[in-house]
Amino acid sequence: MKMLLLIPAIGFMLNVALHAAPPLPLDKVATADELVAEAQALGADIQECLKSQENFDEFGAKRKHATSLLMLVGQALAEHPQPSKLKASGADLRDAAINLNRALDYNAARAAFPAVQAALDGKASGKAVVDVEWSKLMRYRPAMDQMNQRLPALRRVMRRPKDPVTESRQMLAMAILSLPMHADPKVKNPTDIPEWQAFTTSMQTHLTDATAKLRAKDIAAANEAFVAGMANCNKCHERFKGP
Ligand code: HEC
Repeated sequence: MKMLLLIPAIGFMLNVALHAAPPLPLDKVATADELVAEAQALGADIQECLKSQENFDEFGAKRKHATSLLMLVGQALAEHPQPSKLKASGADLRDAAINLNRALDYNAARAAFPAVQAALDGKASGKAVVDVEWSKLMRYRPAMDQMNQRLPALRRVMRRPKDPVTESRQMLAMAILSLPMHADPKVKNPTDIPEWQAFTTSMQTHLTDATAKLRAKDIAAANEAFVAGMANCNKCHERFKGP
């Protein structure tokens, strides 16, 4: 009898173990309100890229960056400890952004956009799964490549900020991209995972700090935090990149 009682308990424990948690505390990355604002801004950026076939062709890289970031923002909102008007539709937003990201041509992208807009309007299907693994959403390599591609524009901003509040979106994007890097450590030995994640944690923490400092228009402090965050690129490369 005792054995029989134990079986469901083991099942329960396994469920808990398999429950995919966010890689880092999401409220320490950005508040839910900040993520809602970013989701809406990304929606507007994507809409602009889909305005015409010419825009679609011209802004291909921008569109890909925006849709893959929107996917992460949707997931972050779904799992965020703070309530928001997009918490219920966050997982739908993630799925709609994935579909849009995969669209191969202009017409397919246009057809995929209404689902994104519906989720941005807070419409929840109630069917989208909240618990997914971040390492499956985006591997560390595409996340790192995207960070690398964003760096030149970000460095220009940091040298001569014109509109630091708006430009802080670039910095927030880098902080968010640290999440899939954290969730997908590329190490040979599992005992090295904490070391990998110390780099990604430090990177995210400083980039989130730099975002806040830019918003507060404290450019010197923003630069300091940005440099401290970027130091982790080289530190991790020295430790894990190999020759
Ligand atoms: C936590 C570890 C880690 C962090 C942090 C990290 N990287 Fe990497 N990076 C790697 C590894 C490992 C490789 C080796 C290539 C691979 O295994 O995919 C790599 C390779 C690269 C490459 C390809 C270069 C080559 O020679 O293959 C670029 C570009 C790059 N990283 C840019 C960045 C930038 C920019 C940052 C900071 C914003 C960054 N990385 C942060 C681990 C990291």
